[in-house]
Amino acid sequence: MTLSGRHIILGVSGGIAAYKSPDLVRRLREAGAEVRVVLTRGAQAFVTPLTFQAVSHQAVHTDLLDADAETGMGHLELARWADEILIAPATADVMARLAHGLADDLLTTLCLATEAPITLCPAMNHIMWQAAATRDNAEILERRGIRMLGPADGPLAEGESGPGRLMEPRDIVTALQGESSHSAIAGRHVLITAGPTHEPIDPVRFIANRSSGRMGFALAAAAAQAGARVSLVAGPVKLTTPPGVERVDVKTADQMHEAVMARAAEADIFIAAAAVADYRVEQIADQKLKKSDNSLTLNLKPNPDILKDVAALPSGPLTVGFAAETESVREHAQAKLVDKRLDMIAANQVGDGMGFDVDGNTLDVIWADGEQRLGPAPKRDVATALIQLIGERLNEAG
Ligand code: CTP
Repeated sequence: MTLSGRHIILGVSGGIAAYKSPDLVRRLREAGAEVRVVLTRGAQAFVTPLTFQAVSHQAVHTDLLDADAETGMGHLELARWADEILIAPATADVMARLAHGLADDLLTTLCLATEAPITLCPAMNHIMWQAAATRDNAEILERRGIRMLGPADGPLAEGESGPGRLMEPRDIVTALQGESSHSAIAGRHVLITAGPTHEPIDPVRFIANRSSGRMGFALAAAAAQAGARVSLVAGPVKLTTPPGVERVDVKTADQMHEAVMARAAEADIFIAAAAVADYRVEQIADQKLKKSDNSLTLNLKPNPDILKDVAALPSGPLTVGFAAETESVREHAQAKLVDKRLDMIAANQVGDGMGFDVDGNTLDVIWADGEQRLGPAPKRDVATALIQLIGERLNEAG
């Protein structure tokens, strides 16, 4: 897939990773894109307009209030010209200014004045990336439909290591190209479960698990971004609904089963990312249980297996299951693929700080005649890659 003829504004903000941006321009142009570069003031401390003029073969834009530039291609014209705005590297400062709608330089003004999709490739020190203010700003931006690619994990400029590296230019271009090949998913109905379920014991207590719902929500966001109609059946989680996604909130496995079965027959794809409780309490107490010196036994009975029931539907959707395992990950996942008659299963290792309630993930995705490892990468990047893989399977299945 090429980016042939696509008009991309590349915004470069002031971080050390800006030295990689000329290479990004070169690769975007090789993929067929037309690139116009906008440098912030901070960026010019690291790289010069002349460098970008040479690699983009275009005048470079630096100022909002530059009469000469405005008589060439003015900022509103530039905002309309863009099919996509890509900011790489995006510093913590640029993220904060965008989150708050500032328009105090050319780049932030363009982002407000455009209707084109915006993608940020954050790059900064790992402590800045994890700072509460940056987390909040990233969440605000993502909620508004701005896409984040990276940051990657690894050695940083100051000799430390952690999440904060600019995603490699090659991978940024692949991700932008991938967007166009998501078309198999575009217009399809994708049904997703996410989060834990809560199984009540009495009016104030319940049985639950550590699932945060982030993987399921990231999948919903990625599918919506790929043009799908997305229904997200969510257990109790503290997450905001991705833009364009229909959300149904449930608490128990039974309620999740009901909400899914009401929608599954007309869905094209079902992704079971929820960590559904396998059992529920047989006799839920009407009143709060009182403690006593005796031991307490709760009788549990099995919950319906939502994924298995969807996979058993005649002419049901393409089914994708998850397998969270603490050992023999691939073997257990393979067994579940066969046992539940799934089209695809995504297996990951959990426990020891992996999988649940963390931002990164690695998935071993297995289907009847193939397999692929996705990650390690932030959950949203793994989600985008999984949606793409599902689209390819859907294409093959006809
Ligand atoms: N699943 C479901 N409904 C259930 C249980 C699981 O839809 N009642 C789905 C999950 O969303 C996930 C997959 O099935 O996609 C996980 O399957 P399974 O391994 O059966 O769940 P576990 O409880 O982890 O199984 P086990 O304890 O045997 O490893």
